[in-house]
Amino acid sequence: MDNDELTSLFERLHRMPELSLREVETTKAIKEVLGATEGVELLDLNLPTGALARVRGGVSGPAVALRADIDALPIHEESGLAYASANGLMHACGHDFHTTALLGAASALAERRNELAGTVYLLFQPAEEDGHGARMVVSAGALQPLGIRRLFGLHVDPRLPAGVVALPNGALSASVDHITITVAGRGTHAARPQVGRDPIVAASRLVGDLQEVVSRTVDPFEPAVVSITRIAGGASWNIIPGSVELEGTVRTMSPAVREAIRSEVQARVDALGAEGYTASLGWEECCDPVINDSELAEAARAIACDAGLELGDFETSMGGEDFSDLYGIAPGVFAHVGVGCAYPLHNPHFIADEAALPAVVRLHVAWATETLRELL
Ligand code: NI
Repeated sequence: MDNDELTSLFERLHRMPELSLREVETTKAIKEVLGATEGVELLDLNLPTGALARVRGGVSGPAVALRADIDALPIHEESGLAYASANGLMHACGHDFHTTALLGAASALAERRNELAGTVYLLFQPAEEDGHGARMVVSAGALQPLGIRRLFGLHVDPRLPAGVVALPNGALSASVDHITITVAGRGTHAARPQVGRDPIVAASRLVGDLQEVVSRTVDPFEPAVVSITRIAGGASWNIIPGSVELEGTVRTMSPAVREAIRSEVQARVDALGAEGYTASLGWEECCDPVINDSELAEAARAIACDAGLELGDFETSMGGEDFSDLYGIAPGVFAHVGVGCAYPLHNPHFIADEAALPAVVRLHVAWATETLRELL
């Protein structure tokens, strides 16, 4: 696949974003490209969307896997690009870029398959944005019997110049938990609060209380975030409602801090019981932190350097990435690759610089080729 083909494939995918678990046309497009590439075999991922393929080398040997996510977001695009999406959804997280680079890598690996010292699996993972896709891939069971020894994944990063790779030791992203809190009291006339139990007052106080969880109970040297992002209750100005619902997210980098925050939030929710409210906490663990093993990261950086890629500094964030849920298949290494943009991910103006595509294809190819040699 030459650079023009990569660009037109990227623009095609950019035009047709689809939400998590609804990546039907995207899956078709991926399979169409893979199916038309000599030397690439399509396999069954056992899921309605997403795809799995392999390139077998001339020599039998170990297996490694390269992973891209494929879904988009419910954001109305305002990038002004000629190839902008017009369907009300947007590839504002660059998963179209990830998909294109992996398809480019499939084609490049297939071309040189006789030199490959083993097998390369290509995983096009659905539903990364909703935090469940990687777990679904694991549950679907298609990858476990393949003997995969190493996984590689990457994400575009607008803060880095186009084509620059950041591949740190340790944590790259946070654990992501989704919390839902219901505070139920007793609804009444707004003019007679004394005969009810006002959940709006209690919920407002709880939002403030929850801000103390990180500042007063977590070690200041441990990263942690508690954000309440939605508050819903009431239907009119003169009625005190019966209940209020809160939603938010908790981000941490360590299991101990995650557990400590969970029990502290639970305690503060439970405390409302003593005031005559019925309060409940729902806690959904979406994904674990992505953490690079130092030795594997060192090897992956060396491969990137040898392939002519420039290494840059990594800026940690409390964002989430479900790549960590694939660690049950094999040890994984994750990198960020620059697509130089002034706007952040998940912003309607976000643009991934297509000029970085050939470098990212080269990175995938080098990771797979060199790691197979090292594992042989
Ligand atoms: Ni993303």
